[in-house]
Amino acid sequence: MSTIKEAPGPRLSPYLQCFYGLFNLLFLCVMILSFLSVSGTFSRSPEAQTSNLTTISRSSLLHTNIVPTQGSSTSARSVIDTISSCSMDNCFNYSRCDKMEELLVYHYDSQYSPDWYFKDALKRSPYYTTNPAEACLFLVVDRRRVGGPPLSRLPYWNHGLNHVVISVVDKPRNPDARSIEMASTMTSITHQTIYRAGFDVSVPLPQRKFYPNLQRLSAMGRKYLLTYKGNRCLEVGSRGGRVCIDPVLRGMHNGKDIVVVTTCKQVSSNEVAKVEARCAKDQFVYDQYKFDDLINSTFALVPAGSGVSSYRLMEVLSAGSIPVAISESIVLPFDSLIEWRRCLFVFPPSQMHRIVPTLQTLNKDEIEFRREHCLFIYRQFFGSDDKVVATTAMAFKSRFFGVLPKLIPNVPLPPRHLSLKQQQQQQPNLKLQ
Ligand SMILES: *[C@@H]1O[C@H](CO)[C@@H](O)[C@H](O)[C@H]1NC(C)=O
Ligand SMILES: *[C@@H]1O[C@H](CO)[C@@H](O)[C@H](O)[C@H]1NC(C)=O
Ligand SMILES: *[C@@H]1O[C@H](CO)[C@@H](O)[C@H](O)[C@H]1NC(C)=O
Repeated sequence: MSTIKEAPGPRLSPYLQCFYGLFNLLFLCVMILSFLSVSGTFSRSPEAQTSNLTTISRSSLLHTNIVPTQGSSTSARSVIDTISSCSMDNCFNYSRCDKMEELLVYHYDSQYSPDWYFKDALKRSPYYTTNPAEACLFLVVDRRRVGGPPLSRLPYWNHGLNHVVISVVDKPRNPDARSIEMASTMTSITHQTIYRAGFDVSVPLPQRKFYPNLQRLSAMGRKYLLTYKGNRCLEVGSRGGRVCIDPVLRGMHNGKDIVVVTTCKQVSSNEVAKVEARCAKDQFVYDQYKFDDLINSTFALVPAGSGVSSYRLMEVLSAGSIPVAISESIVLPFDSLIEWRRCLFVFPPSQMHRIVPTLQTLNKDEIEFRREHCLFIYRQFFGSDDKVVATTAMAFKSRFFGVLPKLIPNVPLPPRHLSLKQQQQQQPNLKLQ
């Protein structure tokens, strides 16, 4: 073996050395100057920030000539650029919430405010107030579906400050940056690209079926390993594109412990021509299985982000199944509070072929741990409309990061045995005390 020699350092002529030194000095000066200007920005007094709040945000939000329309990628891009300028720092008035012992929320009720699923539960909760003067937050339903006057005409709108625009629908929809101004959003389907972490809130779609009698079945004591019965196309990303994944789904199905069956009924007419040959056969297999039988499964596929499938997440959780989401960039409900990675899996559409091999490598303990954690999440955060309201309030409070000490959320922690089990998995030598 040859010995390693130190590489000779570059030899600089005296002129060059002098030049090099000057360059370093200059660089240092630039660094110091930029640091000073940055810290100057942050040390401005709160009054200065508040008085310029409207100016800053209005110029960034209103003076843009963007008319977002659904589905086109350029408009989605512009929406992303425009709405990303709001955060709890520049689009929220903390003073409104200073005095309260509990988070108080006002809800605009009018003929333009259609029902949404936990509205009644909100009204009977301790967070509801009918007095706008004492409210910290104002909730209003996205009116694009129902028409009605623009949000800017709401009596306490104030450019959307402290407002939350609710959109609990089963189709992904980009927020209309111009109309929401400084408001945040509370949406059931939101993509990472248009989600402002710490500002927007992601909520679940309501479940339409409950399977409480399956909750007590252990992970391994179930009829199937993995099941899915439903549509074969996904809405992907915030661009409104659609991808049909039937070949991969068909490949998973083995008719024994893995039942993955899809229907052609959802496919649009120009797509039908391509798939027609397989439709009759797929439909025949599809009709052989019943949802209520398939839910007796260790894992359940949840192709996220479009129509009917989006209701599945809660249904699967209510059955004590472990969701396996297929999604490009979905933001899971209440992701600021819930440790989803201890419960479910998410596969991007391009990696779906890894689902079955991945599930087959998991050991029984890990699977059972995930099942228990999923059930814990379901019961603590979603079990009923009242639970969803309480969780929503926690999610709103978590946006304050403790800035308002009375409003620090009391987030439920997993039972001790769940956390111990996982520690043991990570460090097999750990002794139980
Ligand atoms: C607010 O912004 C304007 C221009 O953007 C600036 O001239 C003014 O000094 C700012 N006021 C405060 C109080 O920071
Ligand atoms: C913020 O809220 C306080 C208290 O309600 C109010 O006096 C103030 O005008 C608000 N500021 C803005 C910019 O709306
Ligand atoms: C679920 O499947 C298991 C295993 O096949 C079976 O013992 C159990 O009775 C089933 N439960 C229900 C509610 O279908």
